[in-house]
Amino acid sequence: MALEQINLPDDLSTISQTATSLQLIKLADNRSDIFVKSSQPAIHNYVPCDFHLVDQALTWILDNYLLTGNRFCELGSGMGVAALLASNHRMESVGIEIEPTLVEESCLLARELVLPTRFYCGSFVPRNVANILELSQGIEHVVTDEGDVYDDIGLAPSEFDLFFAFPWPGEHHFFESIFQQCAADGACLLTYQGRDGLNLVRKI
Ligand SMILES: C[S@@+](CC[C@H](N)C(=O)[O-])C[C@H]1O[C@@H](n2cnc3c(N)ncnc32)[C@H](O)[C@@H]1O
Repeated sequence: MALEQINLPDDLSTISQTATSLQLIKLADNRSDIFVKSSQPAIHNYVPCDFHLVDQALTWILDNYLLTGNRFCELGSGMGVAALLASNHRMESVGIEIEPTLVEESCLLARELVLPTRFYCGSFVPRNVANILELSQGIEHVVTDEGDVYDDIGLAPSEFDLFFAFPWPGEHHFFESIFQQCAADGACLLTYQGRDGLNLVRKI
């Protein structure tokens, strides 16, 4: 199994956003600021990404019919903003997050925004990943020894069409390895890579 690179357009950031997306991102940014300043102890693994770019990438991916289905999964969903944006794009969307307080914040946002996004507290790392010990070497910002939540979701990793993750620098390969092992052929993985923007690959 290989990963095919899908080049996102250079002018992604010029794609227009709907008023609802802008309102969603503004509310989430405010909540995220409050959360980061007030959470004790601080959750060091939580860093939010550029949600405008994620929203614009979702528009581009959907407008270009790149997906084999409509299911979206945010791996390590933080405040759940990418998963909420996917719901706003009418995808069937879930977020998986290991920190209970972040899951509570995400559920609160979903209720306030009246979006059907479902959030699950637990690990996105599937139990059956081969060579997990080897893969986890040097991975410091992903919890790799907790039980996964796919039974609770009622869907296996192979039943999602688009995954999104914001890996810490140097941990991108961990997400790609898991995606390569567990996703269905044709599924896509969108990752936010800080200064380098977004990266999109498809499993072939
Ligand atoms: C860099 S943050 C990204 C948050 C969000 N996706 C975003 O883009 O704003 C990574 C998140 O992954 C969560 N996380 C780490 N290991 C996890 C695991 N095994 N399962 C679920 N969430 C995990 C952390 O608690 C953190 O909230």
